[in-house]
Amino acid sequence: MASLRELSEKRGVRFGCAVSVEALDDPEYVEAVGRECGISVAENASKFGPLCPSQGSHDYSAFDRIVAFAEERGMALRGHALVWHTQTPKWLGEDLPVREILADHIEETVGRYRGRIESWDVVNEAVADDAGMRDTIFLRSLGPDYLEWAFRIAHEADPGCQLVYNDYSIDEVCPKSDRVYELLSDLLGKGVPVHGVGLQAHLELSNPPNMDSVRRNVRRFRDLGLQVLVTEMDVRIPEPFSQEKREEQGRIYEEFVRACVEEGVTRILTWGLTDRYSWIPGFFQGTGEALPLDSKMRTKPAFEGLTRALGESTG
Ligand code: G3I
Repeated sequence: MASLRELSEKRGVRFGCAVSVEALDDPEYVEAVGRECGISVAENASKFGPLCPSQGSHDYSAFDRIVAFAEERGMALRGHALVWHTQTPKWLGEDLPVREILADHIEETVGRYRGRIESWDVVNEAVADDAGMRDTIFLRSLGPDYLEWAFRIAHEADPGCQLVYNDYSIDEVCPKSDRVYELLSDLLGKGVPVHGVGLQAHLELSNPPNMDSVRRNVRRFRDLGLQVLVTEMDVRIPEPFSQEKREEQGRIYEEFVRACVEEGVTRILTWGLTDRYSWIPGFFQGTGEALPLDSKMRTKPAFEGLTRALGESTG
């Protein structure tokens, strides 16, 4: 059977997943990701905190391992995430010169991989769940223009890189995605180099998005001239797990990816590939089995749904 990589690349789409550096010691994981994925992103290794365990220096060893894994297989690479209020360095505090520290981090990290990372999540989750601006160390230290500032610095460090704003719960039209739309419209209006918006698509079996609304949402961002990426898709299932729920999960994967690809999305990444390594059970107690392969690396209805959605011709 054709891999998800082969199916998607036939129609100019790249399918991939977040890669856990710890899982690269698992040969079954390496084989599965290497077979199915044409693009990858580090699940944690390219974040500010993991890259900067101590002040004044970077440790790129874990990320370099993921970069090597991807480049050896001709995979495209995403970078995630330069400015995010979570997983910041443990030593970072507002008593320090945050602007200078963050500028150095962006310049050094984006510059190090210049020409090798096709897109970076420059700012992640800056809009709060109430659609206001999230109160973070970066908003407090740098002021409301920190997004413009960060995108401009990243662009200078790698002018050829696609710079993305990434967030969750913005997959369909809603107050939060409206705010992101306004935010990105303003930035574009000021000539800020923002090239894409990332829909994380962390979906719930019991509350799937309205697919017509997803289509309208993708369309309006595309009409701004932005690329739209599905950056972290998974569909968590509530316990008790059942085949019926797995079949429903497959329908959600299929319908969501079909809607996005038909509206011009060309990057579809899941947040992990196999239930053997997924953030979901630890973060959402009582849920799991969110990914296309099960913990034994066997395909699930979710994988079949992706196969149908990615394998269709564009007519
Ligand atoms: O690496 C340390 C390890 O040394 C330590 O022993 C262990 C126990 O404390 O923690 C390990 O770090 C954990 C890290 O994952 C690597 O496994 C952190 O505690 C844990 O918080 C971290 O969770 C990550 C989470 O982001 C942090 O918010 C998840 O793996 C990761 O999947 C998740 O990914 C985020 C995206 O970056 C942004 N969108 C939402 C998505 C889900 O939260």
